[in-house]
Amino acid sequence: MAELKTYKPRQFDLSGLNGISDQTLEMHFKLYEGYVTNTNTLTQKIAEFLRDGKVDQEEMPAYSELTRRMGFEYNGMVLHEYYFGNMKKGSTTTDPESRSQFRSLAEQSFGSYDVWKADFVSVGKMRGVGWAICYQDPVNQTLSNHWITLHEVGNVAGFVPVLVMDVWEHAFLLDYKPAERPKYIEAFFSNIDWQAVEGRLAQGGHARPAAGGEGR
Ligand SMILES: [Fe+2]
Repeated sequence: MAELKTYKPRQFDLSGLNGISDQTLEMHFKLYEGYVTNTNTLTQKIAEFLRDGKVDQEEMPAYSELTRRMGFEYNGMVLHEYYFGNMKKGSTTTDPESRSQFRSLAEQSFGSYDVWKADFVSVGKMRGVGWAICYQDPVNQTLSNHWITLHEVGNVAGFVPVLVMDVWEHAFLLDYKPAERPKYIEAFFSNIDWQAVEGRLAQGGHARPAAGGEGR
């Protein structure tokens, strides 16, 4: 049997962010590492069921439970990598440059950058445990903002996450009160690495207005 692929936690150099303490980050990196470990563990356990080339009927309940948990652990790992990867220390801006591709796509997709931002921030303020994510449709380049419950409910298959914001309480509870999520969101914007966001966009694409699925 081929050796199983295991993931290693990535390292992010983010100490000294604006409005998000090092203490929060250290705790958050540990949580992220837990998702990496659990993804590897589940992969291993599921592979053990398959060692004899089949899943027996009596193995089905345990196999199913582990397989269902994969969506939670895998997305928990990957989304944290996108989240840490779209922040940088030393940022002095909160918004993308006026001539950036992101801004231009936001304008084409929402009418204006401000409307895109109002939508993204509002998604982030939604009650519940999850994420606000701006995705790009790889077919027509359009940007759209989505609420993701936990880590795995609401992701759009095939869409590319370009800006990912963790709004689980663990992302800000050491720095802000539970009701102060808007302050955390403001802090998040002051740390965004817009170059990293730009790098996730399909190159050279222009958004077409999403008209009843035309062109899809
Ligand atoms: Fe998190």
